[in-house]
Amino acid sequence: MQLSRVVAAVAGAAAVFCVMVLPADAESQSARSSPVPITQTLGQLGDRAGIFMGTAVDMTALDNEPTYRARVASEFSSVTPENVMKWQLVEPTRGVLDFTAADELVSFAQANHQRVRGHTLVWHNQLPTWLTTGVANGSITPDQLRDILRQHILDEVGHFKGKVAQWDVVNEALNEDGTLRSTIWLQQLGRGYIADAFRWAHEADPRAKLFYNDFNLESLSAKSDAAFALVQDLRSQGVHVDGVGIQGHLAVQFPAPGTIQENMKRFSDAGLLTELTEADARMVLPADATKLEAAAEAYRVMLDACLLTRHCGGVTVWGFTDLHSWVPGVFSGQGAADILDANYQPKPAYNALRTDLVLAARSHGDDD
Ligand code: XIL
Repeated sequence: MQLSRVVAAVAGAAAVFCVMVLPADAESQSARSSPVPITQTLGQLGDRAGIFMGTAVDMTALDNEPTYRARVASEFSSVTPENVMKWQLVEPTRGVLDFTAADELVSFAQANHQRVRGHTLVWHNQLPTWLTTGVANGSITPDQLRDILRQHILDEVGHFKGKVAQWDVVNEALNEDGTLRSTIWLQQLGRGYIADAFRWAHEADPRAKLFYNDFNLESLSAKSDAAFALVQDLRSQGVHVDGVGIQGHLAVQFPAPGTIQENMKRFSDAGLLTELTEADARMVLPADATKLEAAAEAYRVMLDACLLTRHCGGVTVWGFTDLHSWVPGVFSGQGAADILDANYQPKPAYNALRTDLVLAARSHGDDD
């Protein structure tokens, strides 16, 4: 309660400030800098600040829960399928492609004027059993696997050509020490699988923005150094890579990433796009006021880094309500990672994002 009053006060103060400093003849600026109604959503505020504000979407919840569906439609300017574009879901049976659920999300996004991020083409998790079994028992040879991967990328990116703005082409290919993760892709195809994946994705949709995506890329580290070197190396080979997705799965029991802005700047300075693609901030349960404030700070650090980085396109949260979060199922005893609680009520993190977006929207309008 108190926090929302603080937000209102900050927004009000910023509005007064903007009106006072505007030159009398700056009509267009003045229109853009009109007070931000406190009712504006993250997506609308993001538009004003020049970034997308997105969420991962759980298709079961979207289909079955009107409150969830309404909130996805109204609150966000970008959507990412949480699961339904992953290989396990689009090709559970070899050679039988099923894009029904993913198509449904794309139609939903079009109806609500939202951007779609495609996630993900090459990963070591959520692969179909026919593929992992075939590789394990040798019935799929490395040459065949390469053809299968090529076909998968051409089929999927081709299916969504012109409809998916960005693809996480390769997901989580790096270890924490910066070496390449030992996946079936690396083991069977060698390190060239990454360049090939980008080449095939670009062939299938030359206008889609292509990303390398990973976790623990927020700070300067051996892993983010390796991601930087990886995309530079791809570019030096003439491979089309547009950007790097920084997942942003944070936890309040660890320090917030203090070097995120410096890290993102180097990608930006090298002409690469960045996005926060899977932001959340989990905590050891039970939640309390201190942990919720720390989570708000974690979200704020990520949003501010994006707002302050020239080529950062947006922030996508990996789920927006604690009612539907991947965290409790994966991190035992942890949760409360999202910006709304399980009753869709705003948490401090939601208010923190709003506050900084309101302020950014103003300075964006004033600077142009
Ligand atoms: C997670 C989904 O949220 C879960 O529903 C699913 O069971 C497993 O995958 N990094 C990623 C995402 O790139 O695809 C993962 O999504 C979370 C971690």
